[in-house]
Amino acid sequence: MSALQKVMGWVDDRFPLTATYKAHLSEYYAPKNFNFWYFFGSLALLVLVLQIVTGIFLTMNYKPDAELAFASVEYIMRDVDWGWLIRYMHSTGASMFFVVVYLHMFRGLMYGSYRKPRELIWIFGVLIYLALMAEAFLGYLLPWGQMSFWGAQVIVNLFAAVPFIGDDLSIWIRGDYVTADATLDRFFAFHVIALPLVLIALVAVHLVALHEVGSNNPDGVEIKKHKDPVTHIPLDGIPFHPYYTVKDIVGVIVFLMVFSAIVFFGPEMGGYFLEANNFVPADPLKTPPHIAPLWYFTPFYAILRAVPPLFGSQFPGVVAMGLSIVLMFFLPWLDRSKVKSIRYRGPIYKIMLALFIVSFIGLGYLGLLPSTPVATIFARIFSVIYFLFFLLMPWYTSIDKTKPEPERVTG
Ligand code: HEM
Repeated sequence: MSALQKVMGWVDDRFPLTATYKAHLSEYYAPKNFNFWYFFGSLALLVLVLQIVTGIFLTMNYKPDAELAFASVEYIMRDVDWGWLIRYMHSTGASMFFVVVYLHMFRGLMYGSYRKPRELIWIFGVLIYLALMAEAFLGYLLPWGQMSFWGAQVIVNLFAAVPFIGDDLSIWIRGDYVTADATLDRFFAFHVIALPLVLIALVAVHLVALHEVGSNNPDGVEIKKHKDPVTHIPLDGIPFHPYYTVKDIVGVIVFLMVFSAIVFFGPEMGGYFLEANNFVPADPLKTPPHIAPLWYFTPFYAILRAVPPLFGSQFPGVVAMGLSIVLMFFLPWLDRSKVKSIRYRGPIYKIMLALFIVSFIGLGYLGLLPSTPVATIFARIFSVIYFLFFLLMPWYTSIDKTKPEPERVTG
């Protein structure tokens, strides 16, 4: 017995190291027909790690103080060794996190990955998405630029629209009557410690739930239904390691090429990843001419603006915006189709999904623009389609003409 085997044996008697390695990697059987859409889960994990590591290094020089925050970010950019790289990796990472997560969620919609028995994987996913939005929103206040300040002011003011308790609620969230030092301190605490802990915990349970039931696949058939009678290994399964570890590395390399191109050649991405106005220090006395959130929030911002105020209160818009996310939780029960994957669905679902995606992107675009009467009409049409995709789902998925699902994966 080699020295290494002896050490492993010693550890295994005290901790399930080899057993865990086998259960989750070398003897974890994943469907053999994953396509590139299955890259985005591991890429989301990669970005999570990147954000945490770059975030730790940023925190070493950042000052959570309204008087010092802006200058400390400039100090990181100009004076700290490699500070510009760490900061641009973190700001680019924030946007790329949403790119990856949106594609990951779209894959779920295409292949019906939220359906039984994966409802909890999906629900944990929606919770991750909510936590990620909170994390990004809080982080954006920290550089204390004009957009940080006014963006936070606008969004926290939405809570003031809640009947009866609104005003007190928004003051309680800010810790002051306007966005101020107290707001910066609490946003910092939540951004650097509270929400990252929540995110890590949610990702952990997301993966535990995934490994309990096993992955879905582009055919939407359950590989556990057909097992080898002797070994009990799914006939359409292959060990995650080495097959998918190697495949995921291909995704990682392509991702890092895109990521590096952005970080080194266009970290502002034409104002979509970093807004020009945020290179101006926060000025509570000067409202910027046009306040728009970063691109990943704009679909919801457009829904908010599309709903007309009631007796001068923005509350209905706030409710619609909240509902647009809450509805996602119910997806596993709204879908009544006989099949999971888009490959075997009928034309109605395909059309509804296409309309939903067009509306979501359309809303995202409109949310970037100042509101005009024409833009508002389009935002209303897109918002209605967005909601109908969910609300009519039980009906159109049950009448849609599906193709028979195969017994085994088709390769
Ligand atoms: C930090 C964010 C996230 C991380 C790190 C993450 C990680 C992963 C990983 C590693 C997988 C397995 C590989 C794959 O199927 O691509 C997975 C599967 C899955 N994730 Fe996520 N995820 C995240 C966010 C989300 C969100 C926001 C949703 C949906 C709202 C979601 C829904 C799902 C579903 C339904 C599956 C199973 C897919 C299938 O088997 O076809 N995830 N996730």
